[in-house]
Amino acid sequence: MAILVTGGCGYIGSHTAAVLTEAGREVVIVDSLVNSKALVVNRIEALTGRRPAFYKADVRNEQALAEVFETHPIEGVIHFAGLKAVGESVAQPLAYYSANIEGAAALLRVMQRQGVRRLVFSSSATVYGDTDIIPYTEDLPLQPMNPYGRTKAAVEWMLTDLYHSQPGWSISILRYFNPVGAHPSGLIGEDPAGIPNNLMPYITQVAVGRRPELGVFGGDYPTPDGSCVRDYIHVMDLAEGHLAALGLIEGSHGLFVHNLGSGRGVSVLEMVKAFSEATGQAVPYSIKPRRAGDLPAYWADASKALRDMNWRTHRSLADICRDAYEFQRQNPKGYVETT
Ligand code: NAD
Ligand code: WQD
Repeated sequence: MAILVTGGCGYIGSHTAAVLTEAGREVVIVDSLVNSKALVVNRIEALTGRRPAFYKADVRNEQALAEVFETHPIEGVIHFAGLKAVGESVAQPLAYYSANIEGAAALLRVMQRQGVRRLVFSSSATVYGDTDIIPYTEDLPLQPMNPYGRTKAAVEWMLTDLYHSQPGWSISILRYFNPVGAHPSGLIGEDPAGIPNNLMPYITQVAVGRRPELGVFGGDYPTPDGSCVRDYIHVMDLAEGHLAALGLIEGSHGLFVHNLGSGRGVSVLEMVKAFSEATGQAVPYSIKPRRAGDLPAYWADASKALRDMNWRTHRSLADICRDAYEFQRQNPKGYVETT
């Protein structure tokens, strides 16, 4: 039996595909490569000694998806495929509604027809939006503040309605906080196209000399050092969370919602300091104006994941920094097609 990993060439999907393969699972990847490279499949093979089956296809292409289900004995799906840049979602909402909502709907229709009813869905802490209640618990109302977040909330509602409409579905919704870091081998990691939107890839690109300095967005927030506070989670801990979630939906029927975070808040300036200490690389930075839409501080209450699936993070901030740097050091220009 196999697990279909949509978006499995991407950042989180590739690490999860590696963890699943190491755990003895058969992995089948479907990815349109809109934000990733096919050579990631070679890297997963190099890491694990087993090559996942790979199909270049858009999840909105139901015919292509159906062929994958007809070729492999798929018993469950982890759905990563989608678009994820908040700023881009404001500029191009229709592209986000299409990829994220139509993509999920197409996948669910095919699963329905094929009789496969186990799904793990990549949601995001961004669905909580602005609230004074910190840390975030899963029972907070969803009030996303941007189109990207609204597509994630919409898919969560779609999954909830589907679950209640038909017996047999078993669904895990995972709300990730800030995924960072890389596989400790340095073979796979985060490889954003163009100028990184996110903090950690920006830091690693500064560390290898691709960019002169980090701009810290805001130094006057009501936080201990004035910079924003987030809950950073090592991508390997996150990948292991998917294995735990699969175990949960395989062991029982239900609709489960879990935060995946470390439960600890770390500021931008703390991250810069931790990175320099862990890697020995200086990260020049200057304080810039606040970035529109940023919240001052939030982190996860991750106790429900510990209770329900015996999952928690194990890796430290130093592990995160060292592993992120190792990927960037080995791949200074990211994934390059000849490697
Ligand atoms: P990513 O862009 O690296 O990976 C997504 C993958 O999906 C890419 O390989 C891309 O080519 C593929 N893809 C996109 N649209 C597709 C489509 N229509 N059909 C087939 N493939 C398609 O992003 P990631 O960081 O690995 O995120 C994975 C999932 O986790 C996304 O759903 C994202 O919204 C969610 N998420 C990410 C973060 C984060 O900070 N990275 C946080 C919370 C949730
Ligand atoms: C982290 C902190 C920035 C870059 C985003 C999405 C969220 C989720 C995770 C998908 C913030 C600061 C950043 C830089 C900086 N993704 N920063 N200089 O915004 O917390 O969350 O990714 O679901 O939905 O919004 O992550 O990495 O962009 O920023 O100072 O060059 O780093 O202001 O405080 P964010 P991030």
